[in-house]
Amino acid sequence: MKLQIIVGATRPGRSTDQLAKWVALEAKNLPGAEVEIVDLADYEMPIFNEAISPRFNPDRVPEPTVQKWIDKIAEADAYVYVTPEYNHSIPGVLKNAIDFLTYEMVRKPATVVSHGTVGGARATMHLKEILSESRAIVLPSAVAFTAGMIVMGGVFDEEGNLADEAVRNNPYGPQTALKTALTELQWASDALSAARG
Ligand SMILES: Cc1cc2nc3c(=O)[nH]c(=O)nc-3n(C[C@H](O)[C@H](O)[C@H](O)COP(=O)(O)O)c2cc1C
Repeated sequence: MKLQIIVGATRPGRSTDQLAKWVALEAKNLPGAEVEIVDLADYEMPIFNEAISPRFNPDRVPEPTVQKWIDKIAEADAYVYVTPEYNHSIPGVLKNAIDFLTYEMVRKPATVVSHGTVGGARATMHLKEILSESRAIVLPSAVAFTAGMIVMGGVFDEEGNLADEAVRNNPYGPQTALKTALTELQWASDALSAARG
């Protein structure tokens, strides 16, 4: 399984990248998983303004950074979108990036790891709807991480592990939720890869 972990926020001083690193560390335990962090900060795209909807415009010639993003997303078998909640939704930069896509995620599984003052739950609900329009198979299991914890610091160690062993081993904690979500993602990825042929 080629798994991409998408960092959905780009502002300087963001904490979403720390969360993505944590997700990647856990994902590397999945047997046979090829894990890649795809950081939107490396894809500085314009605001979407194509005259024709991308899905109805096979002749479009996106600018190089946009094409690079489209090609990158097309490479994967499965996706974890890591997003903060901004104004009860996802960051504009993430929505904008998804607006450039057509069918790169079709019949491939996707899940969400979110953070915010209420775990980014509202952002996740929006993102799941948005991803389903991209024809990704959006999985029910997701991970919601309370942002205050990250902002206060000390949540992750230098490698990106959850620093507190008790939290890490708590069956109701975020590490367990992440393991569950990733296991589901791999199952769906294997099943859907076989079905796509
Ligand atoms: C512009 C902006 C809007 C925000 N709106 C919300 C919000 O509506 N709900 C919420 O729970 N947190 C909100 N937050 C808090 C962020 O979710 C939290 O600070 C998170 O860590 C931000 O991720 P980042 O550091 O990667 O940008 C907002 C933060 C910013 C910068």
